[in-house]
Formats: sequence, C-alpha cells, structure tokens
Amino acid sequence: MTATIIDGKAFAAQVRAQVTTHVAMLKEKGIVPGLAVVLVGNDPASDVYVTSKGKMTREVGMEGFEHRLPDTTSEADLLALIDQLNQDDKVHGILVQLPLPAHMDSAKVINALDPAKDVDGFHILNVGLLGTGQKAMVPCTPLGSLMMLRDHHGSLSGLHAVVLGRSNIVGKPMAQLLLNDSCTVTIAHSRTKDLPALCRTADILVAAVGRPEMVTGDWIKPGATVIDVGINRIERDGKKRLMGDVEFASAAAVAGAITPVPGGVGPMTIACLLANTVTACCRANGLAEPEGLTP
Ligand code: GUN
Repeated sequence: MTATIIDGKAFAAQVRAQVTTHVAMLKEKGIVPGLAVVLVGNDPASDVYVTSKGKMTREVGMEGFEHRLPDTTSEADLLALIDQLNQDDKVHGILVQLPLPAHMDSAKVINALDPAKDVDGFHILNVGLLGTGQKAMVPCTPLGSLMMLRDHHGSLSGLHAVVLGRSNIVGKPMAQLLLNDSCTVTIAHSRTKDLPALCRTADILVAAVGRPEMVTGDWIKPGATVIDVGINRIERDGKKRLMGDVEFASAAAVAGAITPVPGGVGPMTIACLLANTVTACCRANGLAEPEGLTP
C-alpha cells in the first residue's frame, strides 16, 4: 500500500483563507482581531515560531502585538504584562511561547491569562471545559490534527486511536478531542509496554513524542491513518533538516494516509492559532463564530 499524503500545507491555506474572510467581515463592523505573542528569552526555535506567527497574523489582516522580553525578566514583570494584555480591548488572543525560562512557574503564568483570550487552550479552565465536552479554547496542534482526521475520514466514531505522548500541549488534549469524537482512545508513552504491538492495533496513530523517526512502518496497521506531530531539528550529513517522529518512507508503505514533515501538522498549528483568535474575537463581541474552525 502507498499512503495518501494528507497535505497540511494546502489545508492550512484553506483555513487561513476562511480566517481572512472572517477578519474582513469583522473589520467592516469596525473590529480588528488582535493577537499578542509573548516570547521570553532567545531560544532559536521559539524565535522562528514567534516571527512566523507574527507574519501570518498580519497576512490574514489581524493586528499582531509582539512582546520579546529578555530571559532575565522576573516572573512578576511577566505577570504584569499579562495583566495589561488581559485588560487591553485591542487584544483578543494572547500566546505565551513555551518553554519559559527555568526560573518561572509556567502553570502560574498560563493560569494568569484571561481564559477567553487563551488561544493556546492551556489555561486550566479551558482544559476543564474541553475535558467535560463544553465550549473551550482548544489547543492548536490537536485542533489542526483533528480537522485533518475529520476531513480524511468523515466520522471518527468507533475507530481505535492511539496517541503516542502525554504532554499537556498535544497528547492529552488530542486524546480528549478524539474521545469527544467517539474514538476508542489509548494514550501511550515511554513506559508503555510493547509500544510497537499496541500501535499496530491503531486505526489512527498520532505520534507526539519528540523523538526523530521513532515510529517505523512495522509499528503501523495496514491502512491506518498516521498523524506525525514531531518537529525535530536534525543535522545529518552536514545539512539541517526537519524530521518527524515517524520514519516517513517505511510508514507510507503501510499506512492508508499520513501527514508529512514538513508540510503536515506544522502549518495547521499556526492556522488554528489564527482561527482561535478570530473565534475569541467573535465571542468577545457576541458575534457568530466562523463555522468549522472549532470542534
Ligand atoms: N511551544 C511549543 N508548542 C507551543 C504551542 O503550541 N504554544 C505555545 N505557547 N508554546 C509552544
């Protein structure tokens, strides 16, 4: 079997086009959706993400506010900035880029966000709302992955989904979304016994472990759908490249469908961040939300 390639880049362009249309409608009403991105320190990967988020924000017609703080910033100063952004009516979404420097308590910082502006969906209130099937802000990477899965399968009901990885950013919310779509969900992690055998029972396999090419073709059930969340920066033969958590060639020979790296989940994450910002803006103004951009 040769897998269908799920084109996240093209899908993300569609989502951004829908966001652009909605932003234009809001502007006609005198409302400009605004996204504030906060980066503390100068982690090179985070820097690339933040620059790219700012560029995309402006491309869809929204206002972008970038706050780059030195890694010596105190937690109190960061909390003061968050308070200021919470109060700012021009800001509808706030993203604090993770990881934060070691001297900060990430949970405290995230929980200081106004939950209605928490476009990452990391605030404890949004986690609880998602966990109880209520309207929430939903984390962007799992949301983008869900959109691609729904688009490929239609209904996900009754499918066995194995989520490899238990992070708060991807693994846990991904499992929750799949459960809400009536999948039978297994969360697997580094302590799981016989991972390859478990993965071979999956109709949907989501790899979010951050280990380059850990999943190989012999871990995959023939015809299964594979979502590769991994974005690992690797230097091989003197060349820098991005590598997923899945060994693409062997996996694509067995899977029914697969997301590539790059060009799969990554572009969808940023598109969903923009979608969440428009959604937050509509909710703040009591206006109808764009369709299909929330679960
Ligand atoms: N660091 C890695 N992924 C993410 C993400 O989705 N949001 C934030 N805020 N930080 C991240």
